[in-house]
Amino acid sequence: MHDFTVFAHRGASGTEPENTLRSFRRALETGAEWVELDVHAVEGVPVVFHDDRLERTTSGSGLISRQSLEVVRSLDAGLGERIPLLDEVLALLAGRAGVNIELKGGRTAEPVAALLADRLSGGVWTPDRLLVSSFDTDELSRFGRLMPQIRLGALLRKAPPDPRSVLPGLSLFSLHLSRGAVTPETVNRAHGLGLKVFVYTVNGTADMDRLKSMGVDGAFTDFPERFPPSRGALPPA
Ligand code: G3P
Ligand code: MG
Repeated sequence: MHDFTVFAHRGASGTEPENTLRSFRRALETGAEWVELDVHAVEGVPVVFHDDRLERTTSGSGLISRQSLEVVRSLDAGLGERIPLLDEVLALLAGRAGVNIELKGGRTAEPVAALLADRLSGGVWTPDRLLVSSFDTDELSRFGRLMPQIRLGALLRKAPPDPRSVLPGLSLFSLHLSRGAVTPETVNRAHGLGLKVFVYTVNGTADMDRLKSMGVDGAFTDFPERFPPSRGALPPA
């Protein structure tokens, strides 16, 4: 049995409003050792939210990046939850779980790096409990140059022929691939380059078993209660 890391995707988002403190609390209750969350910047402040627009998951409307922080913080993100600040989620998870911060919105690299630098200097967080990823290679590169001590994961819809070309000049820790993009060859090639492979989003046990048998190193799930942690490619918190 190889090492395998389970990430609670947007918290325990299969049963709670995604990317809310309630969802992350529930993920901790299930025993999750790692959580994934998405970040946008509002007035330069990192907030935890997935979509570009507010309609699907909140009482608001429009692009989140165009709102004031005051408006964003006044919205209902489900069951009376607010859209959390990244700082609030870090405070909740500190010492309890590692976190994969996905830079979802533009202009997130600098404010996230500044916040993490502060939290790292306080000794509450350590680099081995953090993994930063993005589909946006420019944003991810900016972050990587600001914080070379933090592991980087490249989110890809399709495995590239040479994963090292994704972030020129920076070293990647992991490839984060969709379920459909993973093949045994992809996994072997990534492993040959010293890269971990994490797969999103996996909610069925048969699917999880199939991926484990391919040798992937971990997966993101909306239902962390279905997949109790086992020893992972990343250290437990
Ligand atoms: O980080 C894995 C996964 O969250 C990427 O896709 O759209 O759920 O953020 P998405
Ligand atoms: Mg995400």
